[in-house]
Amino acid sequence: MSAKDNQPDWDKIAEKFDIWLPQLATVGDALLDELDAQNGDHIIDLGSGTGEPALTLARKMAGQIRITGVDAAEGMVKVAQKKVVDEKLPGIQFQTMPAEQLAFADNSFDRALCRFGVMLFEDPLQGLKEIHRVLKPGGRYALAVWSTPETMRTLLWSYDVFKDRIDAQYHPPLAKVTSLGAPGIMEDLLQEAGLNTFTVKSVTFHYEFESFDKYWDAVESSDILKMQYDALPEDQRSEIRDEVGRFARDFIKEGNLVIPHDYLLVSGNK
Ligand SMILES: C[S@@+](CC[C@H](N)C(=O)[O-])C[C@H]1O[C@@H](n2cnc3c(N)ncnc32)[C@H](O)[C@@H]1O
Repeated sequence: MSAKDNQPDWDKIAEKFDIWLPQLATVGDALLDELDAQNGDHIIDLGSGTGEPALTLARKMAGQIRITGVDAAEGMVKVAQKKVVDEKLPGIQFQTMPAEQLAFADNSFDRALCRFGVMLFEDPLQGLKEIHRVLKPGGRYALAVWSTPETMRTLLWSYDVFKDRIDAQYHPPLAKVTSLGAPGIMEDLLQEAGLNTFTVKSVTFHYEFESFDKYWDAVESSDILKMQYDALPEDQRSEIRDEVGRFARDFIKEGNLVIPHDYLLVSGNK
């Protein structure tokens, strides 16, 4: 999947992705509030990655709900499923499956969840149509998608520093990641998918690191920019770090690095 719209190779970085989970936790909490799961629900989490927000929900409501997580990348699914086994969590399982082609019957889930997956799908509209198909009538959904490029700050910084140094085919995936963020796009897609009742709210949250060094450690050790670094002449590596550091300077607050990001919190009922 590495070549698709320059996304990271999710299979290869699966073991390292959890570095980002603390940064995304408040988005998961907002999604779970909107989802409002009830006893007895069967819930699908799409693009579930290393298991979030499905696992957080499974821990909160163990024994009361069933959850199925699906992700196109087998490596991500393996990491998520290992957590289920290690923690002996009941009622939750992960499967490798593209969101555009769910192997589930019509009307089989009470709720659907997806954190930062839909805009990465090869075909977001088809993914939303599948959510519509597998949800029961009245079934509830809660989705988070990234907002516009200028509010997806960390990726914008990476895009800006790499764009004149490497070939366009390797540029950081700013366009894909923010492809559903402009006003009206999600609304149109939801309607086209048959998900006619919805609210779309723009929400700001923050990545928080003790220092710029800690942030850059996360970027490097998660391999999230591996494709870009592989395309970069070796002698320019330190320039990348220094230039991003200059962007980050404006966001140091009382010694910590606090970077605002916007996303769209989308929820509704079938
Ligand atoms: C940014 S990660 C988010 C993972 C997780 N939901 C989280 O918030 O921690 C995006 C995930 O979407 C998955 N993905 C991308 N395209 C997909 C598709 N067409 N069907 C299912 N999963 C997909 C990737 O494999 C990756 O695990």
